[in-house]
Amino acid sequence: MTSVDVPVALLGYGTVGSAVNRLLVSNADEIERATGHRVRVVRALVRDPAAERDFLPDPGILTTDFRAVADDPEIRLVAEVMGGLEPAGEHVLELLRSGRSVVTANKQLVARRGGELFATASAAGVQLRFEASVCGAIPVIKVLRESLSFSRVHRVLGIVNGTTNFILTRMEHGAAYAEALAEAQRLGYAEADPTDDVSGADAAAKMAILATVAFGTRVTLDDVWYTGIEEIAPLHMRAARELDMAVRLVGAATLVDGRYDVRVQPAFVDRHHPLAGVEGPFNAVMLQGDAIREIMLEGPGAGGLETASAVVSDMISVIGTTGTGFLQNDACWRELERLPHGDVVSPFYVHLEVDDRPGVLADVARRLAAHEVSVARLVQHETGEGTAALHIVLHECRSGALGTALAEIAQLPETRQRPTALPVISDRGVPGLGWA
Ligand code: NAP
Ligand code: HSE
Repeated sequence: MTSVDVPVALLGYGTVGSAVNRLLVSNADEIERATGHRVRVVRALVRDPAAERDFLPDPGILTTDFRAVADDPEIRLVAEVMGGLEPAGEHVLELLRSGRSVVTANKQLVARRGGELFATASAAGVQLRFEASVCGAIPVIKVLRESLSFSRVHRVLGIVNGTTNFILTRMEHGAAYAEALAEAQRLGYAEADPTDDVSGADAAAKMAILATVAFGTRVTLDDVWYTGIEEIAPLHMRAARELDMAVRLVGAATLVDGRYDVRVQPAFVDRHHPLAGVEGPFNAVMLQGDAIREIMLEGPGAGGLETASAVVSDMISVIGTTGTGFLQNDACWRELERLPHGDVVSPFYVHLEVDDRPGVLADVARRLAAHEVSVARLVQHETGEGTAALHIVLHECRSGALGTALAEIAQLPETRQRPTALPVISDRGVPGLGWA
């Protein structure tokens, strides 16, 4: 495939904007291999070019002059990651009118002026994509617009604000509201004005966008009834714990007999409900419809890199559906080898049936240790007639190493049954992959 250069511009180079550039630079080869295009940031609009940046752009990229973007005919694709209603709104409209496709992370803009923006994009024959405006890294807009466009989704239930979910989770563990909010701001989850987060306005804008896409009717921020978490106090946390529930800021969009309701409010969520398990800056969206029953998407809802992944994915979608595009082609571009079966790493549960006498535990532990397998927890139950069942939870280890150790343990004279091992699913990931 011949490589073609795609110069792009960013409106904003803050938490999200700098992470977009970081992703485009660090994944340039992968993006080129997949799309045939070398995507490069050539301009980024900021207020103060001298301010400290998380990821430095090339010299001369930062500008305070919007004309340097709008008047450059080479730039056909722009990501708006500056936030606010103005000047972002007028900039996006001008870019669309002049034939540029725009990708935006700005939920307030899309939720308030979506009708005008989409009409302008349609009239100009360009694309306006907004995946990053809702739920950070979770590709819920693509799922709703592409995979479920015929599915008659009639309910969307979600935790759609990372900052408030982070604060509520921290409060659950005893932190004070103000302390948790300050931490969310420091970690880059909160809006420039965190009032939007804690008042529910940010979640309301996202629910307006989700309802618009799910129900196929324009729902604006004014159509959403919302309250925030400012009134939530430690007494609510205590009560929820006693009732085996969790406090969450929940958005609900419902379609009933051709009429819709969209609201955001703090709710007591039963501990067994999947939304109760959504913690920290994570978001989740539950989609309900006749044919699909229920689909839940969960992932990081805020954060620079997480949100940037949605921005970059939208940029790639614009490129992939422009001209001859590439998204209709075979997705395979490489041949990977299978990982050897025994190299998979996991914590495990092991069941042993052994003689109940001195030295048996030591024998078992020695065989495990010889293969770098380490015990995390152990429970012993007497099973009668001098035998005992050992229920052992192991720290992460290679499944091959565990298999070898268990084969040796099976040969011990005190072992009464073939040992069994099952993987344990507890943490959210694998430390070795860097995100657990
Ligand atoms: P941010 O860190 O405050 O960055 C905003 C950037 O826009 C800065 O580079 C700023 O310039 C520039 N900017 C703002 N107003 C400007 C103006 N009038 N003229 C020129 N440049 C201007 O904000 P962010 O967290 O990256 O958020 C950006 C957008 O992404 C917002 O719409 C937000 O809602 C959305 N979003 C954020 C997250 C998140 O986790 N942070 C997640 C999802 C969506 P200076 O750097 O010079 O000040
Ligand atoms: N402030 C927003 C949040 C950023 O906390 O969810 C993601 O849209």
